[in-house]
Amino acid sequence: MSLMRLAYASEATFEAKPVEKGVEPHVARILMTSRKNNAKDQLVGGLYYGNDRFFQYLEGEEDAVRRTYDRILKDDRHRNIVTLIEEPLKSRTFSNWSMKYVPLSRDVRAFLDDQGLESFDPAAFTSEQCEKMIELVRNSSQEQNLSTRDDPKSVGDAPQVLSSGMKTGLIVAGVVLVGALVIGGTML
Ligand SMILES: Cc1cc2nc3c(=O)[nH]c(=O)nc-3n(C[C@H](O)[C@H](O)[C@H](O)COP(=O)(O)O)c2cc1C
Repeated sequence: MSLMRLAYASEATFEAKPVEKGVEPHVARILMTSRKNNAKDQLVGGLYYGNDRFFQYLEGEEDAVRRTYDRILKDDRHRNIVTLIEEPLKSRTFSNWSMKYVPLSRDVRAFLDDQGLESFDPAAFTSEQCEKMIELVRNSSQEQNLSTRDDPKSVGDAPQVLSSGMKTGLIVAGVVLVGALVIGGTML
């Protein structure tokens, strides 16, 4: 079976809802579907969203990539879809991510600055810039891999129920209470 990779750029048709934290709700829905489907199809890649634009990279079995891209092309949540890369791939370059999401991050801003680009407009990327974006996606995937894995250390990092200050306070209160009881008992 042959592998392939694909990258495209598109423009969102929805009006982005302002979010303080987390993922824009439309994008969150896209990601939920993508992660479910792509994991089943063993597709990996990443989705960048920023400046009302998408950049998506996908790699996997050719059939699965093409079937998925056919669905994506018909999706009315984006338009002006420009295929940037569509070619055979010798071996997989991502480890185990169904669909990494990265909003317009510090890394991408640094990349845009480096390239002298004023805004995120992936449809205008050169092939070299596409490769750099894919590299960012790849590196981001690893970061997410580390931060979302069940980490046994985090169990030890869980907030303690009682701080040491509170413990000392309780001991002092106990001593005072016992003292008061003893004194109270001797006065009876
Ligand atoms: C920018 C964008 C990226 C998407 N990426 C994927 C993807 O990687 N995998 C996927 O299964 N669907 C993706 N979708 C969603 C598909 O377009 C489609 O809604 C979904 O696969 C469900 O298709 P179905 O309703 O025909 O089953 C994406 C949609 C958009 C707008």
